[in-house]
Amino acid sequence: MPKHTVQQSQLFGEALEDKRGADPVVPSRIPSTSPFHQPRALTESERERYRKMSQESRRARESALSGNGPAPIHEINIPRLDPLKLMPQVRRNGLRTLSLFSGGGGLDLGFDRAGFEHVASYEIMNDATATISAARPEWKVFGGEGGDVRNVDFRQWKGEVDIIHGGPPCQPFSNAGRQKGHLDERDMWPKFVEAVQAIKPIAFIGENVPALASAKFSNYVNTSIIEPLSKNYHITPVILEASDFGVPQVRRRVFFVGFRTKKAAARWSPPTPTHFWGERQLDSGTERCMGLREALGLADIGVDDLSPTIRSALTGPRHTTSILNSVAAQRRFEAMEIWPNGVAATREQARAFVAKNGHFRLSVPDVALIQGFPEDWPFQGATYMALGQIGNAVPPPLAYAVASSVSAAVAK
Ligand SMILES: C[S@@+](CC[C@H](N)C(=O)[O-])C[C@H]1O[C@@H](n2cnc3c(N)ncnc32)[C@H](O)[C@@H]1O
Repeated sequence: MPKHTVQQSQLFGEALEDKRGADPVVPSRIPSTSPFHQPRALTESERERYRKMSQESRRARESALSGNGPAPIHEINIPRLDPLKLMPQVRRNGLRTLSLFSGGGGLDLGFDRAGFEHVASYEIMNDATATISAARPEWKVFGGEGGDVRNVDFRQWKGEVDIIHGGPPCQPFSNAGRQKGHLDERDMWPKFVEAVQAIKPIAFIGENVPALASAKFSNYVNTSIIEPLSKNYHITPVILEASDFGVPQVRRRVFFVGFRTKKAAARWSPPTPTHFWGERQLDSGTERCMGLREALGLADIGVDDLSPTIRSALTGPRHTTSILNSVAAQRRFEAMEIWPNGVAATREQARAFVAKNGHFRLSVPDVALIQGFPEDWPFQGATYMALGQIGNAVPPPLAYAVASSVSAAVAK
């Protein structure tokens, strides 16, 4: 995989040229390992402050993990939610899928459980492809340069694939980013469109942050996605909420679902909720979605809620082991007595590294659960990398719901 160090700084050079009086902005000394990393324009004194904070927290963690920290307060949690029960394995439906921008495999897993046959995954980040390969060693997974969709001639898959799915990077559109849309080098929607045009599958599913469906990007969506594809496809955008499918998190995503035939498009309807949270039960056929504490198997403290939308540790201005997105999210976690920063690699380490305020520290498997991944999905790489793959993913039960709806519309 290419290193994104100096080049990345040059990419966002305009920010780095910014001067703040006598204290000029300086580039980070830490090399970026993700194509999404937008180094923050920080001055030397700001960098020094962050350096001190992170050194302090590293020392506290090391001391806790070697048994010299405050005594643990919480037991190791045994989750109550089993995401696999939200997506029971369906028999093969005879439809073959090509996965683009596969990340750690959220969409791939949902489609797999819904009965689709996996043909291949393309993903640029090596840790993410290592995750998919560890989970499904028999799958064909292209990673690094070979997984970079910019290098692929998709005509090789014509006739081999029935469905294309993928979530092109959302950073160009996300409210958390600079929202440069097509001006952002990471805008990969044109490659997704190109793949659909080259392969002409029966159907495609393109996923992204709901901001892409906002007025700000309506022109972009029309000219870059709808117009080029509507010559051959009937396309419907739909915004879905993960907790409607049992995922204990507030997470909305937009899906562009396109069918080549009018008949399949007419047969398709968006997935109907299987779960409800709070007062939202619309019909008696839906089950209650677990709150975050309940899903994690934590004691009842009289307060429970859905997790706020977790952030991807790769998309913020710095690589981090925090899943916090906003001040509102922080308040929500606080009310549930959950500590969303300094996520630990394992539950044992989370227990040993007591949070300053005594709240429950999360671990990578806990965050995976919040995103609807089963306990055994083997995220690879350092903690921030695993969190990045998790935070970038479509919750597999949500992917499963969409995949099942497509299967019902085009089943042979
Ligand atoms: C939003 S994430 C997709 C997550 C995935 N759909 C899931 O459910 O787990 C976007 C992914 O696109 C990948 N990506 C970015 N540029 C790429 C490129 N040029 N070729 C292949 N993958 C790329 C990123 O590494 C990232 O994992």
